[in-house]
Amino acid sequence: MSMTFSGQVALVTGAAAGIGRATALAFAAEGLKVVVADLDVAGGEGTVALIQQAGGEALFVRCNVTQDADVQQLMAQTLNAYGRLDYAFNNAGIEIEKGKLADGSEDEFDAIMGVNVKGVWLCMKHQLPLLLAQGGGAIVNTASVAGLGAAPKMSIYAASKHAVIGLTKSAAIEYAKKKIRVNAVCPAVIDTDMFRRAYEADPRKADFAAAMHPVGRIGKVEEIASAVLYLCSDGAAFTTGQALAVDGGATAI
Ligand SMILES: NC(=O)c1ccc[n+]([C@@H]2O[C@H](COP(=O)([O-])OP(=O)(O)OC[C@H]3O[C@@H](n4cnc5c(N)ncnc54)[C@H](O)[C@@H]3O)[C@@H](O)[C@H]2O)c1
Repeated sequence: MSMTFSGQVALVTGAAAGIGRATALAFAAEGLKVVVADLDVAGGEGTVALIQQAGGEALFVRCNVTQDADVQQLMAQTLNAYGRLDYAFNNAGIEIEKGKLADGSEDEFDAIMGVNVKGVWLCMKHQLPLLLAQGGGAIVNTASVAGLGAAPKMSIYAASKHAVIGLTKSAAIEYAKKKIRVNAVCPAVIDTDMFRRAYEADPRKADFAAAMHPVGRIGKVEEIASAVLYLCSDGAAFTTGQALAVDGGATAI
């Protein structure tokens, strides 16, 4: 896919691993300068090293997306290093539940909502003024197929991802006339550390995960990265407020 990104600046949260790292690499491969944000310093610096080895330009900023001061600092460092922000992929997220709704704890609720909802809200809150000042841009938030329907034994996670779609759609309408597009990507099961923590310990679960998808396999991180790049590209200029399922057909059944 040919894009028109050269010289622009993308910010990716949760970019030390998984979907975020793959998307940071994909942005860099298209010629964008990339701000790699994560709590995980070693992983984040690893992503920057991979980008630089491939001839790209990137900066790591340690950031806990649940902390307003960290997110403000992230935007300040982005402007300081690259002078602008064109695209943001708000992707940091956690999954820590193991049981049904009545088995969940208040700590789990606060932690999941903190990263997955407050984190996305804080990032958008501090990104939108930059995009407004520049006259446009695009934001993609990572929701999930768990934002489109039930996720048994992950009810708080499902609620958090439904909330991400609510934030996405509302912001999309609020800023539609300002040339700022806001969309969400909704992956099904993707082969990342998050997947391995949830499924790999039990081979029956891994088989079940593959069978959940009509295409007969789980997804690859690059398959989410390419959807994010599309949503940021001019090719998606008429696409805003959408929650794009990238799910091997899982939600079409
Ligand atoms: N893997 C899947 O099957 C799948 C499916 C649907 C949606 N998702 C979503 O995709 C996103 C990325 O998940 P992944 O599978 O790549 O997971 P991952 O665990 O491999 O990566 C998540 C990254 O987010 C970072 N992070 C966590 N809390 C943070 C915080 N407070 N501040 C900053 N960074 C933080 C982690 O350090 C990690 O590098 C998440 O939002 C997840 O909910 C994943």
